[in-house]
Amino acid sequence: MFRKRAGVLLTAALLVSVLGACGDDDSGDGGGGGGDKLTIGFAQVGAESGWRTANTKSIQESAKAAGVELKFSDAQGKQENQIKAIRSFITQRVDVIAFSPVVESGWDTVLKEAKDAEIPVILTDRAIDSTDESLYESFIGSDFVLEGKKAGEWLVEDEKDEPGPVNIVELQGTPGAAPANDRKAGFADAIKADPKFKIIASQTGQFTRTDGKQVMETFLKSHPDIDVLYAHNDDMGLGAIEAIEAAGKTPGKDIKIITVDAVKDGMTALSEGKINFIVECSPLLGPQLMDLAKTVADGGTVDKRVLTEETTFTPEQAKEVLPERKY
Ligand code: AHR
Repeated sequence: MFRKRAGVLLTAALLVSVLGACGDDDSGDGGGGGGDKLTIGFAQVGAESGWRTANTKSIQESAKAAGVELKFSDAQGKQENQIKAIRSFITQRVDVIAFSPVVESGWDTVLKEAKDAEIPVILTDRAIDSTDESLYESFIGSDFVLEGKKAGEWLVEDEKDEPGPVNIVELQGTPGAAPANDRKAGFADAIKADPKFKIIASQTGQFTRTDGKQVMETFLKSHPDIDVLYAHNDDMGLGAIEAIEAAGKTPGKDIKIITVDAVKDGMTALSEGKINFIVECSPLLGPQLMDLAKTVADGGTVDKRVLTEETTFTPEQAKEVLPERKY
């Protein structure tokens, strides 16, 4: 059924050591692509946020439902671990490699190795900045620049009758990651026409709650006049809310908060008025990934870019959708 490539048979001992080096393996058999089952090697970023946890669940559940053998590796936020995992998937001769790149740059060499081994690659969630588009079959995920723009456009509209200045602090995602770069750029673009909008501090919170809280604490100490927090994800926003409350201020009132993701905890804070606006970024990429992987493994053609459909939420909208929210 699936494209088969001539491969080198590894000894069981070597295979075990390779698997040990690359992290978790959900397949349970320790073997490479084989039999009639499609085998996908998936190299995940880590478990930094509620979004990531939901994304991992979506991929694992969809693989199960589609009868796909999934070899899953958690890179714990490190590019070198992802590269190691991809090399291991090549050695195991999986049918398809998919991964969500920790950072945008530095992928050409390992993806060239996958290409030479004739193993198709699908990028999920995040893009790479390579100019060689032949290194991957498809990129499925959100438009992060648009997400940043939506966040900025909401603020411009919300502040349209206010004289300003509007002092903004920004919690950026992981340095070098596509969603951090693009959400920053899209937001800056949306507010640039009006000089009353001033980004007075901008620092990474690593997409985590802990770092979001810590960085917000330092922002609050050095800037007594913060009007708005723009956080590149819900988790950092939720950490920042703790810092704001500890400083005796009311999140959502004394400081307006805009975040990205719309995971359950973020939506709950939005429905309570602690966050003012959330731009959705859907983590439910599993079903589409399985379809794409099956098509490319069968030698079919797929779209180079598969865009995720997303919306935005106000507190009222959050209240309506929360009961049915899946993640
Ligand atoms: O790449 C998607 C981003 O990664 C999510 O918005 C963020 O929560 C996650 O860590």
